[in-house]
Amino acid sequence: MRKAERINRLGTETAFAVSREAAEFAATGKKVFPFHLGDLNFPTPRKIINASLKALNEGKTGYSPNAGIPELRKALAENLNISHKTSYTGDNVVIQPGGKPVIGKFILALMNPGDGVLYPSPGYPIYESQIEFHGGVPVPYSYREGKNGFELDISSIERRITGNTRLLIFNDFQNPMAAEASPEELRRIAELVEKHDLYVLCDEAYFDVRYSGSSTSLASIGGMQERCVLLYTFSKKFAMTGWRLGAAAAPADIAEIIAKLNTNDESCPNHFIQYGALAGLREEQPEVGEMLEVLKRRKDTAVEILNSIEGVRCFNPDTTFYLFPNVTGAMERLGIDSYDDFRRNALHETGVSFCTRLHFGRQLEGEKEKHIRFAYSGIDADDLEEGLLRLKKFIET
Ligand SMILES: Cc1ncc(COP(=O)(O)O)c(C=O)c1O
Repeated sequence: MRKAERINRLGTETAFAVSREAAEFAATGKKVFPFHLGDLNFPTPRKIINASLKALNEGKTGYSPNAGIPELRKALAENLNISHKTSYTGDNVVIQPGGKPVIGKFILALMNPGDGVLYPSPGYPIYESQIEFHGGVPVPYSYREGKNGFELDISSIERRITGNTRLLIFNDFQNPMAAEASPEELRRIAELVEKHDLYVLCDEAYFDVRYSGSSTSLASIGGMQERCVLLYTFSKKFAMTGWRLGAAAAPADIAEIIAKLNTNDESCPNHFIQYGALAGLREEQPEVGEMLEVLKRRKDTAVEILNSIEGVRCFNPDTTFYLFPNVTGAMERLGIDSYDDFRRNALHETGVSFCTRLHFGRQLEGEKEKHIRFAYSGIDADDLEEGLLRLKKFIET
């Protein structure tokens, strides 16, 4: 095969490779404790399912408008205006088959080959993949362990901005670190964005996945709505990962380009599902609150057990369904230096399957501390506890 040169630059979501290894291990008859994938073991709220079925029965089975049905675009704009203090109309919202497509479309719309794009590392691995695939220059910035959670290292953004930098990818309510910017950090980011004339992908996939307090968007700061493309998704909040529905909210001229990319890529988002999503936005969904309560209990249990393990240190974040414990001491105890060895040994000795820092973008110079990621969204409380106690035993004895 003579493949296109650009394919050599295409990365992947390496967590899926961890899933494969876990499945192979399970196929040998062993029990797996799945902490590796950010999927949810909760059903989609009933009203969303019913509204989708109704639309299906009513024949909403042809193409929809390329940017999505106007009612959904308008409803999402109105919802965002409340939660984000923005002033969007339906024209600013372009419905997508999931949140993920917004990443590539943002880059295609606003980046020329050779442009510098800032993105977080550790961070969602698709950023790095899409920047490189489309010929951009990936410029990773970092976070550090603060007192109560991971903190954005704003100086690491500032230092890396050059005359060539065009775009910033910012993932508040961050995967994998569950980091959340303070109002002061948001203000400083906004300043940098204005000063250096950047556009921002504001990936807010976990904006509504939170256990206390409230989320604030970078787009709510004066001047930022004009510079931000918001990544919105129905996947996490409504336990709809497999439905594939999300949206971009952007200044009207960028929204138009994104809609044109829709026409070229998938014609339109899935038609009848959009009516389900509309019900999701318009009506109370009691299952969402119940899910968050269950997730919070899982989180608190996991954090308690992880912090009881010698050589492990873990924050208790307010958002996302990820934990990113520091395992430097645990790996030293075990005499293991390689992330892959640690992950595979843990899987084979305990059945506990997780991702490591290696699955979240390239490592930065001088990075010494070791971290792994636990997703607690797809594992019930009993298994969560049993798995982590097995891991404790594995590390301590
Ligand atoms: C940070 C982040 N952004 C975007 C996505 C994409 O979500 P989806 O395409 O399922 O809406 C994910 C999924 O895990 C994510 O973690």
